[in-house]
Amino acid sequence: MWWNVLIIVLIVLIVGIRVRIYFRGKKCETLRDISNLTILITGGSKGLGQETIKQLAKFNCRIIFGSRSRPTEFLQQLLETYPQTKIQYFPLDLQCWNSIKQFTTRVKQEVDKIDIIINNAGIMGTLTRQFTQYGIEAHFGTNYLGPFFLNHLLLDILKKSNCPRIINVSSIAHLFQDLDFNDLNCDKWAKSLFWSRIFTYRAYGNTKFAQILNAQEFSKRTGIMACSLHPGVVRTEVLQYQLSAWWFNLIMSIAWPIYSFFTKDIYYGCQTILYCIMIKDEELVDGGFYKDCKLAKAKFTSKEKAKQLWDMSLQLISKIDNSY
Ligand SMILES: NC(=O)c1ccc[n+]([C@@H]2O[C@H](COP(=O)([O-])OP(=O)(O)OC[C@H]3O[C@@H](n4cnc5c(N)ncnc54)[C@H](OP(=O)(O)O)[C@@H]3O)[C@@H](O)[C@H]2O)c1
Repeated sequence: MWWNVLIIVLIVLIVGIRVRIYFRGKKCETLRDISNLTILITGGSKGLGQETIKQLAKFNCRIIFGSRSRPTEFLQQLLETYPQTKIQYFPLDLQCWNSIKQFTTRVKQEVDKIDIIINNAGIMGTLTRQFTQYGIEAHFGTNYLGPFFLNHLLLDILKKSNCPRIINVSSIAHLFQDLDFNDLNCDKWAKSLFWSRIFTYRAYGNTKFAQILNAQEFSKRTGIMACSLHPGVVRTEVLQYQLSAWWFNLIMSIAWPIYSFFTKDIYYGCQTILYCIMIKDEELVDGGFYKDCKLAKAKFTSKEKAKQLWDMSLQLISKIDNSY
């Protein structure tokens, strides 16, 4: 009788481990020499950006990153562990045009070429409707329009690289998109009782869809290859806005072991970003969407919307630039 129980326990254990390995995600096994590359990453004070920097530091490449807060302890530890790595932090607020300009000016003072830009920084799910100082909905301003402006200002030194590349950290949440060019600020949802629970994800989904469209259009407009990716559902601080609601916090504290079982830690979370860096130029699919360290299919794409979005973004950035 006891061995029946033992067999059941063993089966449950094996199935459990296999399920966990599946949800933990794949490791990037692709490598190339990136020691002569300069890689710029937005975000990096925490989460996926920080872990990507940590993994990249092993490869002796030059890293520049920007976020609102400076991760002093992390930088110190990194420089102690990898003293040969050239890593620099400059303040960056993607909601603020002056900050983006100051950041790009400092970058240009330091380096004369950039090989890869990783548009990683982002926010998700603000509980109330928020706006940048230019009246742009906060998700759209931070996750999409600010990075678009930043990339635009760095085009000249990107073009000095032999084979420049843009990597947009998008999300499976592009599924929630409702990208209406006549309603980029989601005004039609503004009065909804459900802004904080449903439409905030629409606003976030719009930006993640916009990043996919941006990667599709990038080389057509600039000659620079680009791709986008979904890193997986990763245990980072991206849930911070949602967790500030007491009841969501309570549910998550109770469900945390289950949530942890089905989600990735940051090490596995940054593997698809590493893959998009490590894949050779001739193997990278221009405009491609990557997931779990391989090419995947985005749920939504649209060549027409990609064109429209690019034109609209150019208009928006010049309008903001001329008015402030
Ligand atoms: N975690 C997930 O499950 C998941 C899934 C799919 C996609 N993603 C995407 O992955 C990216 C990274 O998210 P994460 O999970 O690492 O989140 P996180 O831990 O909250 O990190 C977000 C990063 O973005 C920076 N950031 C936020 N607002 C900024 C601003 N206005 N200007 C400059 N930097 C800003 C933050 O730095 P400061 O606060 O210091 O400015 C931080 O470094 C995001 O684009 C997110 O949409 C995450």
